Order: sequence, then structure tokens, then C-alpha cells
Amino acid sequence: MLKDTLEAGRTLADGALERLLPPVTQHPVSIHKAMRHSVFAGGKRLRPILCMEAGRMVAGSLPAGIEDLGAALEMLHTYSLIHDDLPALDNDDLRRGRPTCHKAFGEAIAILAGDALQTQAYEVLSRLRCRAEARVRIIEEIARGTGTIDGMIGGQVVDLEAEHTKPDLQMLEYIHRSKTAALITASVVSGGLYSGGNDGDVSRLRSFGHSIGLAFQIVDDVLDVTQTSEQLGKTAGKDTAAEKATYPALFGIEESVKKADALVDTALKALESFGLRAETLKSLAHFLVERKK
Ligand code: IPE
Ligand code: IPE
Ligand code: MG
Ligand code: MG
Ligand code: MG
Repeated sequence: MLKDTLEAGRTLADGALERLLPPVTQHPVSIHKAMRHSVFAGGKRLRPILCMEAGRMVAGSLPAGIEDLGAALEMLHTYSLIHDDLPALDNDDLRRGRPTCHKAFGEAIAILAGDALQTQAYEVLSRLRCRAEARVRIIEEIARGTGTIDGMIGGQVVDLEAEHTKPDLQMLEYIHRSKTAALITASVVSGGLYSGGNDGDVSRLRSFGHSIGLAFQIVDDVLDVTQTSEQLGKTAGKDTAAEKATYPALFGIEESVKKADALVDTALKALESFGLRAETLKSLAHFLVERKK
């Protein structure tokens, strides 16, 4: 059941990405090759799937064209990964089971490929097939979620500045909520907005996103310690090596897993009033903490 949701969501998101990204034959070809190298390397597509399922829950059925919104979210996420892997940031060689963008195409093209995915995402968002007011709110939501104030870039900044320090829980939570939970929250909220959700729907989705987003990054930290590079498709053990501020570093693995589980419980409660319609999002919340990669 969940397997079907993940597979169908991934197929839908991949189809939209294929259609919305310039072909590799498009001049200048190197940048388009680099963008596609990183996008079509086997990501889980969780942000598009969460977005589309939030949209389905609010509307009662999958709204037409929502996969383009999902694709834009995946472009932004992939841009964040390309830049996260750069030598100046986490300096990683392996991503999604492939050489990182800068390993395959050089640093300059990798930086530009990240930039280009971001630009392309906003072009796609500006053309979404929903009401104009919803479209503007979606763009604001996603720009904030990836920005410097409590958004992805802000989180990445503090993540880097916290290396080799002994962070407290407050700083750790800031990093994880900003670098990861903010875009995940924007994914479910934008799905709800696309479907014409009211303020109540949006605020319940926002609470859900905050909790599963934090749980997601806690689990990412745990997997970095417990899995191999082959299993993850990215270099395992690198957080310890770089002395990153992580949940396992501060609390140990067992306590971190407990925290992630508790966050999922909180997330599920936020969706209570949606009743049976929330079943798919709820099972996705469980999947986020049970995943092995
Ligand atoms: C990895 O995200 C980076 C984080 C924000 C933790 P994912 O685990 O969703 O990576 P892909 O998209 O499946 O490669
Ligand atoms: C990255 O966190 C979060 C992003 C905004 C990309 P990590 O640095 O832990 O992600 P991975 O483990 O390299 O995927
Ligand atoms: Mg990082
Ligand atoms: Mg990293
Ligand atoms: Mg990580």
C-alpha cells in the first residue's frame, strides 16, 4: 500500500522533472547534463510525494498539475544537495550512488547547476496551474523555507559554523529545523495551498511538517552512523569525521531514535481532524523514521 504510494509518487514526480528540465542536448549542454546528473540519480522524491499526498488529503483527490509543484520542490532539494556536497561545505564525493556533481563536472559547473535548479524551480512555480493567489502564497512559502531566516540556507550556515563545537540542544534543533524541516514543511504546506486548503488546513499541515521534518533529519544523522556508504548511496560516517552537530553525537543513537519516534506521534496528532483522509500521510510519517537510506 505505502509501497504503491511511494512508487506512483516517484513516477509522477520523475515524469514532471523529465518534462520540466531542459534536455541534455540544449545549449549550453554542460550545465543541463550536470543538472540532470544530480536530479536523475535515484533520490527518494520524498518532498514531492509529501506535497502531492498533502494536496490529495485536502482536496479529496490528486489535484491536476500538482506534480509540477512536486518537481519544483525536488529541484530545490537537489540544488541544496549539490551545494551541500561542495568542497567548501561537506566535501562529499558520493551522492545518490553516483559521483557528486562537482566530482563529475567540476566545481564551477556544480555551483552553477545548483543555481540553475533553483532558478528553474521558480520558473516552474510561476506557471503552476492553480489559483493566482495560491500560487503567490506557495512561492512565498517555498522561498522562506529555503531562505536565511529559519530556512534551509540559514540552517546550512549554522551547521557549518557548529562544526568542531559542542552545541547545545537549542542550536542543534535550530540547525535541523532550518536546514531540513523547513523545506519539508514548505512541501506539505504548499501541497495544501495548491488544493485550496483553508487557514486551519494549512496550520495543521505546518505542525505536521515541523515534526516530521525534524524527525527526518534526526534519522538522517542516525543512518550516517549505522549504515554503510553502499546502503546510503552517500558517504557514511562523515558527520563524526567532520565533528558535525548531530543528535547521535549529543544524545546517542537509542535516545535519538526515541526522539524521532516521539516526533512522529506528535505529527500524527496534528492530522487527527482530517480523519481517514490522513492515512497516507500518516503512513509516510512512519516511513520517514523507519527508512534505511
Ligand atoms: C538528504 O535528503 C539530505 C537531507 C536533507 C537530510 P534525502 O534523504 O531526502 O535524499 P534523497 O533525495 O533521497 O537523495
Ligand atoms: C543536509 O544535511 C541538509 C541540506 C540542506 C542539504 P546533511 O549534510 O546531513 O545531508 P547529507 O547527509 O549530506 O545528505
Ligand atoms: Mg551538510
Ligand atoms: Mg552533507
Ligand atoms: Mg546527513
